[in-house]
Amino acid sequence: MFQSQCITLFSLCALISGYSEEDRVRDLMSRYPLIDGHNDLALQLRKHYNNHLNHINFYDIKEIATDISRLQMFSVYVLCGAQEKDAVRLTLEQIDVLKRMCTQNKDFELVTSTQDSHLKHKIACMLSVEGGHSIDSSLPVLRMFYQLGVRSMALTHTCNTPWAESSSKRYSFYQRQNNSLTTFGRAVVEEMNRLGMIIDLSHTSWGTAQAVLKLSKAPVIFSHSSSYSLCNSDRNVPDWMLKELNRGLIMVNFHSNFISCKREANISLVADHFDHIKNIIGVDSIGIGSDFEGAISFPKGLDDVSKYPALIKELLQRNWTEQELADILRRNFVRVFDEVEKVKRKKKKNFTKHPDSPSASDQHGPSALHILLTAVLLLSTLSLL
Ligand SMILES: *[C@@H]1O[C@H](CO)[C@@H](O)[C@H](O)[C@H]1NC(C)=O
Ligand SMILES: *[C@@H]1O[C@H](CO)[C@@H](O)[C@H](O)[C@H]1NC(C)=O
Ligand SMILES: *[C@@H]1O[C@H](CO)[C@@H](O)[C@H](O)[C@H]1NC(C)=O
Ligand SMILES: *[C@@H]1O[C@H](CO)[C@@H](O)[C@H](O)[C@H]1NC(C)=O
Ligand SMILES: [Zn+2]
Repeated sequence: MFQSQCITLFSLCALISGYSEEDRVRDLMSRYPLIDGHNDLALQLRKHYNNHLNHINFYDIKEIATDISRLQMFSVYVLCGAQEKDAVRLTLEQIDVLKRMCTQNKDFELVTSTQDSHLKHKIACMLSVEGGHSIDSSLPVLRMFYQLGVRSMALTHTCNTPWAESSSKRYSFYQRQNNSLTTFGRAVVEEMNRLGMIIDLSHTSWGTAQAVLKLSKAPVIFSHSSSYSLCNSDRNVPDWMLKELNRGLIMVNFHSNFISCKREANISLVADHFDHIKNIIGVDSIGIGSDFEGAISFPKGLDDVSKYPALIKELLQRNWTEQELADILRRNFVRVFDEVEKVKRKKKKNFTKHPDSPSASDQHGPSALHILLTAVLLLSTLSLL
């Protein structure tokens, strides 16, 4: 009661109770621990430490332990240059380093369902693959990633895959026209629905995003993108597409280039993106996807993981209610993940089977590996007899 009165009469309340705005933010964020849609720590672990976790003191490398009650979606990202080379191995190594970090460290916890995400005073880790090139056009690889704990995948990074299109023109792989999502691409979307893996459209072209929005039975996310109306970067989402999100989520990216389209930005400009998206589609579709560790320039006062409260404070000052802030901090994401898992259960009831087709490479006939495996199987069967 006292609290709800404080919401409407806040400035007066603060005066009489000594309950400062910072206290209010801290209290809110401890009741609704943040879920951040995108963090590239794993990339930094490879770059700077070659994945040697034992050489790292997590309290020293970053302020990651300063406010440790939250869920981060850690991205498993390998460079586009690995496409059709060693992308699968590199992805497995990144999954390995995150799983070790999240299970060997008392301040982390690996989560794979919404049921595990109420842990207190820990950083909950959820694994996400950033870029469809990581599955090397193979549904079995996608399924095994799920088994290893991966719960979301961005369909592309900055390169096209043989089956989906990136928003970036940086690489010349698989240029195509009027075919943003191929037949195999559609199979990937359906398989992710069936598995209960969240589809992330943050790096895809608008054509691919639109095709997926039409096809997916489960809500999708843009895990780290902002508003195109305010900054016309191809990584951001235009208003007409926001309107097609249909209870999916856009998790606002803090990277200055996607906030102001310049190297500099400030918290007020970030809050403008939140206000704008709320005006277009309402608060139910908004989340936070900082892109910390993945980008280089962040707005003044919002440049590392200890600064989230400054944004929440700015939104409070713009008259966002505590209920709305609880939604963008975590409840929207939990709702989307729940719906993704609901589609999975429905499909299970529907006896939707694993598609047999091993991969897109089927189109090229059986591979040497395939023939070798068949031969080995045959031999071992014979030796059993
Ligand atoms: C792609 O589709 C657009 C709109 O339907 C059409 O105008 C264009 O000619 C098509 N391009 C190709 C290469 O088929
Ligand atoms: C944020 O940046 C914008 C654009 O440079 C500027 O107009 C605005 O005054 C800044 N706001 C604050 C609070 O510094
Ligand atoms: C917030 O609400 C108060 C009281 O209704 C109003 O005076 C103020 O202008 C509002 N601020 C913004 C940023 O909308
Ligand atoms: C269940 O199967 C029916 C009939 O094949 C299909 O129309 C429906 O879309 C399926 N539901 C899901 C969730 O896949
Ligand atoms: Zn990214």
